[in-house]
Amino acid sequence: MTILIEQPELGIEVEEKKIPNSENELVLDGGFWVPETNSFGNNFRDYDAESLRQQGVEDFYRINHINQTFDFVKRMREGYGKLDKVEMSIWECCELLNDVVDESDPDLDEPQIEHLLQTAEAIRRDYPNEDWLHLTGLIHDLGKVLLHPSFGELPQWAVVGDTFPVGCAFDESIVHHKYFKENLNYNNAAYSTKFGVYSEGCGLNNYFPAKLRW
Ligand SMILES: [Fe+2]
Repeated sequence: MTILIEQPELGIEVEEKKIPNSENELVLDGGFWVPETNSFGNNFRDYDAESLRQQGVEDFYRINHINQTFDFVKRMREGYGKLDKVEMSIWECCELLNDVVDESDPDLDEPQIEHLLQTAEAIRRDYPNEDWLHLTGLIHDLGKVLLHPSFGELPQWAVVGDTFPVGCAFDESIVHHKYFKENLNYNNAAYSTKFGVYSEGCGLNNYFPAKLRW
């Protein structure tokens, strides 16, 4: 049975599935079962909930939404696409994140290395046979090394937070959408239509010069 839950504040629908027969079973064709709490008993992100971090998170998204323009993303992709900063192992990369706290996350204030290990271990517990998924959990946030001086020490708004396309209208389901009104692209005719610089059905592989936020 499928239950549709309306979330009017964000304008999105979450499709909730019944728990699979086996808790270890990965449902690849119909989406995942959506639990109410994560593996550590905490609720999932709620960007509208009152919390000590809420104001900081909202400030983060305001700056993020103002500055993530099509030209900015293009410049960053060209610069970092050279891969000329540092060479290191995955584990060295994980250790580099030890001092990093993600300001965009309303309910996570542990160092990132703990977040990586907790994610990987929680996935291993729930899906013990899917080793590729354990590894994915471990490395899923390694891009945050861009906050580190070795990789250019980019500001938080240019590294963390949710992902969305630029070069087309900002969808209203994007968290704290109201702050896009101050983005230079918001009223730019080339970037503010539904498909913007893209064509319908172009797909992520043909996303050139298409851009997701940096
Ligand atoms: Fe993460």
